[in-house]
Amino acid sequence: MKIDVMTLFPGMFSGPLDESIIKRARDKGLLVLGIHNLRDYTHDRHKTVDDKPFGGGPGMLLKPEPLFEAVESLTSEQTHVVLLTPSGRRLNQALVRDLTRHSHLLLVCGSYEGFDERIRSLADDELSIGDYVLTNGALPAMVIIDAVTRLLPGVLGDEESVVQESFSNDLLEYPQYTRPADFRGMTVPDVLISGHHAEIAKWRLEQSELRTRQRRPDLLNPIRGTENVPQTKV
Ligand SMILES: C[S@@+](CC[C@H](N)C(=O)[O-])C[C@H]1O[C@@H](n2cnc3c(N)ncnc32)[C@H](O)[C@@H]1O
Repeated sequence: MKIDVMTLFPGMFSGPLDESIIKRARDKGLLVLGIHNLRDYTHDRHKTVDDKPFGGGPGMLLKPEPLFEAVESLTSEQTHVVLLTPSGRRLNQALVRDLTRHSHLLLVCGSYEGFDERIRSLADDELSIGDYVLTNGALPAMVIIDAVTRLLPGVLGDEESVVQESFSNDLLEYPQYTRPADFRGMTVPDVLISGHHAEIAKWRLEQSELRTRQRRPDLLNPIRGTENVPQTKV
């Protein structure tokens, strides 16, 4: 998969995407990453990317001209353009899985107070990573890159781990233990050391359901507000 990112802060991306599983995915060519500086798409001496909002109000907005030029120069028929915004659909594992179906993602990061409304017309989708406001779209872009990359075939050593982990079936993960079987009097449930695979699978499903009911009953409710309402191009 190819993921391009349009940002005002390309420096923020060095580090988090150069370690661990994401680094290995990049080294193996499973993820091809391009980080682009929005200022490279300006044509004035000051490389201006922002301006004051019409009608007044605090802060500055990203101007349409550089972003339109940037997005148009990086997209093809295959590109799925995602605008990062707190007003977007709230990211969850199902949406992450949907993103893996595309061969090319272009993640557009906002900054300052956000962007000129007309920029929305460039997007195939608008995503939020949660109900809080960050200073710019770089961290949300990195969250999406991480979540998507680990689902790509060949990235994780054990493909089963993405099938069994939290949210894969709208359930949280069951409790897991490793050695020692008794640590400070806290013991591992007998069933897990029984060697009885069917019993272990049954226990894990029960525990997943119990944990989900206790901690995230909203996951078990099929009506989950507006977070999964599809958005279309404006
Ligand atoms: C300070 S925020 C702008 C917030 C905007 N004024 C609003 O009220 O929605 C600047 C940029 O950070 C990014 N951003 C901040 N929080 C985000 C979130 N929860 N999910 C996705 N992107 C976010 C977006 O790209 C946004 O345009």
